[in-house]
Amino acid sequence: MELKIYPDPVLAQKCADVEMGDVSVLSILEEMSKKLYEWEGAGLAAKPLGVLKKLVVIDIRAEPATLYKMINPKIVWASEEMMDSKEGCLSLPGLRDTVIRHEKVRVEYFDVNFEKQIIEGEEFLACCLQHEIDHLSGKLYIDHLSRLKRSRFLSKFKKSQRGEEVEEDGE
Ligand code: NI
Repeated sequence: MELKIYPDPVLAQKCADVEMGDVSVLSILEEMSKKLYEWEGAGLAAKPLGVLKKLVVIDIRAEPATLYKMINPKIVWASEEMMDSKEGCLSLPGLRDTVIRHEKVRVEYFDVNFEKQIIEGEEFLACCLQHEIDHLSGKLYIDHLSRLKRSRFLSKFKKSQRGEEVEEDGE
C-alpha cells in the first residue's frame, strides 16, 4: 500500500461496496490500522492507499481507546448544527485548512464480523467520520472550501510540493 498524494486521479474515484463475507478486506483493515498509528492519524480510508473499497479505520485517541474498523460506512443522519473543523489530510501533506462540518453524525457500518453497527459521533469524531467517508466518494476536505479558498489552498499546496515555504491562512 502506497500513499496517494493529490492530484493523483485515484483520489477522485468512487469506492465500491465491499461484499458481505469478503474476508480479504480483513487483512487490508489490519494493514490500515498499522498505518494509522505509524502516521499518527486519527482516521484513514483505504482510498488514499489506492484501494478502491469502502473501508475506514478511526481512532481519535480518546479514553477508553477505541479503534473502529469499518466496512461500508455511511452517514445515515447529520445534525443541522454545523461547526468549524481544522483539518489536514495525508493526501494533502503539509497544509491544513478550516472547513464546515456537521457537529454530530450517525454512521452505519459493518464490523469485522460483518455485523451491522451504528455509532454516533460528535465534534472531532464526527468530523473524522465525515472526512474519511468523503474519501470513499472521491471527495477531499478542500472540496468543502469556497472556490476562492480552494484555489488559494491549491496554489500554496503546489508551492509546498515544490519545496517552497508557504504560510497557512490565519496562523
Ligand atoms: Ni484524508
